[in-house]
This record gives sequence, structure tokens and C-alpha cells, in this order.
Amino acid sequence: MFNPRLLREIRARFHHVAKCPYQGARAYFENAGGSLRLKTAAKVAAKLSELPDNQGRDNPASHALVRMIETGRRDMMEFLGAAHNDKAGGRVFVGESGTECLFRVIRAAMLGAPAGGRALGGALEHPATRSAARQWAAHAGREYHVIAHDPQTCALGAADYRRALTADTRVVTVIQTSPVAGVSVDVAAVCREVRGIAPDCFIIVDGIQHAPHGGVDVKALGADAYAVSGYKIFSRHNYGFAWVSKRLAELPHDKLDGTAADHWELGTRDTAAYAAFSEVAAYLDWLGAHFTKSAGRRARLLAAGEAIVAHEKHLIEAMLRGCRSKKGLTEMPKVIIIAGADNPRREGLVSLAVRGVPSAQVVRALSERGVRVHIRKNDYFSANILDPLHMTDCVRVSVCHYNSEAEVARFLGAMEEIVGG
Ligand SMILES: Cc1ncc(COP(=O)(O)O)c(C=O)c1O
Repeated sequence: MFNPRLLREIRARFHHVAKCPYQGARAYFENAGGSLRLKTAAKVAAKLSELPDNQGRDNPASHALVRMIETGRRDMMEFLGAAHNDKAGGRVFVGESGTECLFRVIRAAMLGAPAGGRALGGALEHPATRSAARQWAAHAGREYHVIAHDPQTCALGAADYRRALTADTRVVTVIQTSPVAGVSVDVAAVCREVRGIAPDCFIIVDGIQHAPHGGVDVKALGADAYAVSGYKIFSRHNYGFAWVSKRLAELPHDKLDGTAADHWELGTRDTAAYAAFSEVAAYLDWLGAHFTKSAGRRARLLAAGEAIVAHEKHLIEAMLRGCRSKKGLTEMPKVIIIAGADNPRREGLVSLAVRGVPSAQVVRALSERGVRVHIRKNDYFSANILDPLHMTDCVRVSVCHYNSEAEVARFLGAMEEIVGG
């Protein structure tokens, strides 16, 4: 867990940490719906929105914008661990959202891989990859197979992929962490299985829920694409970005005639997206410097990731087992914890239901007690997790590293009132 002074410094760097401008004081546990925003990221985005200038002109403002875009791209590459990825080459591109980036990458892989064969995904996935894979596999005339996870633990492992893989598997999608169950997949192990059976298969990773909760290392994963959303990682809406390997980047895809074979950005980009992410990288660099003496920025980014993991693990344990004289969720008999309380792959959130109380009512009661959480319903976003459990809804309580144990205690106190002990 972060020491109290560092946690205060961390919290001071974000907007609206303890107070919502519309509601007043509240503990924010809706991080999987959108993280708090770094003050520096909001500031640079606001500043850039004042400028009339466009990129690619011979004037000082335009040169500055181009420099910010280049810096932003380098920062994204470094954050992803792709900066020195000589073997795979590859590049990042910015799109309108994580979903849009994933659709474009999956479409290119489905249409560009050698004809025939099949595509494979996991039932744990968000519809961003599942819908794209289903739709574009059909267009490409490939069979699309979805591997079921264990409904009770939400586990989906390399062995599950191994059983489903065939030598003619052309495209595989993997989610690193489920935004509904909060359970992560060992993506590196899945990639090893895929490469062992179908070495040329394109592997596309949805890292959107994982990226704010620990380090990313695409080089170590061995995938072909990895997507991130700006608003989930401390910056802003209206952009997502994806890293694509050289061989995937050069597959036919939407692009303007005359641009390079691996060019993916379509039209004029908002410089603020790149500049805001540079502020995210600078923040993580600052945070990581508290945990390593390394002179290398990548090492500091990874150190920040490890420290985030440790702090969030503490918060989740406090939520499950209790803290500051408040009972934990596991001590509340009416509370059902999706994916189980003793789940070693839990990351960043707890989804729960209260026996006999509709989740909408729990969300409202928590809100009245100054705790922001979110309902997940059995709809196209969350049915993959809730349906196999025969559940209609659940309450998602999602943490981030700037949350405190005191906020967890506030949540637990409110839950105790709601569930009646
Ligand atoms: C795991 C995951 N994938 C994809 C998405 C979609 O991202 P975006 O809203 O940037 O399109 C989300 C958003 O909640 C998500 O959690």
C-alpha cells in the first residue's frame, strides 16, 4: 500500500478525487467506467483546444503540434513496452475509441490473413472484440469459435485456448482483464500456446481494462495488437490507441492513397489526445521514481505498474475481508461475489449482488451514502458473465490506485447498512 504522504500527493494530481461537482462528497469506485482525470492531462487538452492551427504547416504552432504528436506516439510505445521492439517493429495509432481501434485491427486481420481457417475468441471478452470478430469472421468466410470460461471463477486460461486451437487458426482475440468480472487472463501464456500450434496466427489483445492497473509489456506478450482507451487511463474521452505489429500494420486496411503501408491514422487527429497521454506517461514516470532508482524511464513506468498492483491488491483485500473495524464483503451473508472471493486473478474490481435486493436499488442506496458504483445488467455488455450465472444484474465496485483504505471503509459501512449486517 502507498504510504499516506505519497497517497496524498497522488490524489492531489487528479481532479474530483473526493467530491463530485454535481453530487458533493463521494468515494469514487466507478473507475472501470472512466478513471479520474489527471490535472495535467486536462490542462494540456484545454490549452490545445484553444488553438486554430492544423498539423503539417510551416509555422511555429503547427511545428509544435507535430512535435507533440511525435512525442505522444513515443510515449505510447514506451508505455506499452514496444519502443525497442526491433523484431516485431510495429507502431501505434490513435483512433476515436478503444472499440474503434479494435474493430479496425480485427477487420484487417480477418480479411488479410490467408484464406480459410478459423478465428477464436474467449467468452470473457467485451463486445468490442467479440462483435468485431464475429462480424468480420463471417465476412471473411471463417468459422468463429468462442471458448467458454468457468462461470464460477471466470477463469479462462492457456489450456482452454490449447484445447480449441487448430493449426489453421488465423485470428485469435484475447481480453487481458474482464471489466465485469475483474478477472485477468495470462495473455503471455495464451500467446505461447497459439504460437506453438498456429505460429502465423494474428493475436489481438484488448488491454483496455488492464492498462490502468499494472504494467504493459507487448514485447513479452508476443501478440500482434494491443488496445488501450484514454478515458480509462487517467486522461480523456474521445481517443483510444492501439499498437500493431509490423506484419499486422502492413496488412491492407483503410488508409489514404499515398501514405505509408503501415499508416493507420485516418484524417486530422486531435493533438490533445497525444499530449494528454504524454502527461499520463509523465505521471507514471513520477510515480515509478518512488519505487526504483533506475535512470531508465521504461523501468520507472514498470515500477509504477508494480506499485499500482500492490496498492490495489490491498484495497481489494480490504473490501473483501474488512478494514478499519468495518466488516468485509465476505462477512456479509447476503452478498454474492462474482468470480469468488479467493480468486488469484482478480484485478481492479469486485462485482457483487445482494440476495433479495435488485442491483439498481443497491447502486442508488450507495449513491445516497456518497459512494459511486455502477450496475451491470444482463445486456450485450455483461451477459457473457451474468447469463451463465443466471443473474440479471450486479453491482460493479471498481478501484484505482488513487483510492484509499478510508474510502473502502466508507463503502463497507454503507454496504453494512444496506444489507443489514
Ligand atoms: C475491456 C474493455 N474493452 C473495450 C472497451 C470499450 O472501450 P471504448 O469505450 O474506448 O470503446 C471497454 C470499455 O468499457 C472495456 O472495458
